[in-house]
Amino acid sequence: MDRVKVNGKFFKKHIGEEQISCKVKKLAEEIDRDMKGRNPLVICVMTGAMFFAADLLREVSIECEITSVKLKSYEGTESSGRVKIDDTLKRSDIEGRQLLIVEDIVDTGLSMSSLLEEISKLSPSDIKVATLLSKPEARVYDVNIDYLAFEIPNYFVVGYGLDFDGYGRGLKDIYILDNNQL
Ligand code: IMP
Repeated sequence: MDRVKVNGKFFKKHIGEEQISCKVKKLAEEIDRDMKGRNPLVICVMTGAMFFAADLLREVSIECEITSVKLKSYEGTESSGRVKIDDTLKRSDIEGRQLLIVEDIVDTGLSMSSLLEEISKLSPSDIKVATLLSKPEARVYDVNIDYLAFEIPNYFVVGYGLDFDGYGRGLKDIYILDNNQL
């Protein structure tokens, strides 16, 4: 499908599933190479990163432990500026560990920089960040991304885990808001 209607708005295809799968395999190879023998704890940022993390972690062949954390910073198509982090991450799980955070998108960078700040307090040995998408033009908070699948322009996107008010996550491709809403 080249154009879809999600929650009342039209979106057009921007990145296809084959392109995503190819990139995910490449990132998995890099992670295998960089983290071999380090037994990383992988933290999937819910809910947006669930498809990316599921595909990425099935391509990764090194041993790793997987957990998740939930953040929320968006309501509708505009950033609300508020970030909530749940309390599932405990110091005893994180102290001294190599971490790999898997995120769907780094937009303003507020969520990731807040998460990095919180997690750093729990004394991991090292933190790496993998994100499916990055919108460099929207960046307000500086975030170091170690594994990036795609850079995109500053448009609202849905699909492959990303939602528009809860809808559109299950789309296999990534769609960008269509300027033409007719
Ligand atoms: P940031 O805090 O501004 O970097 O936003 C990060 C979070 O906002 C992501 O984890 C997404 O959940 C959400 N987000 C940012 N841009 C988009 C988008 O284009 N579509 C859907 N969700 C987005």
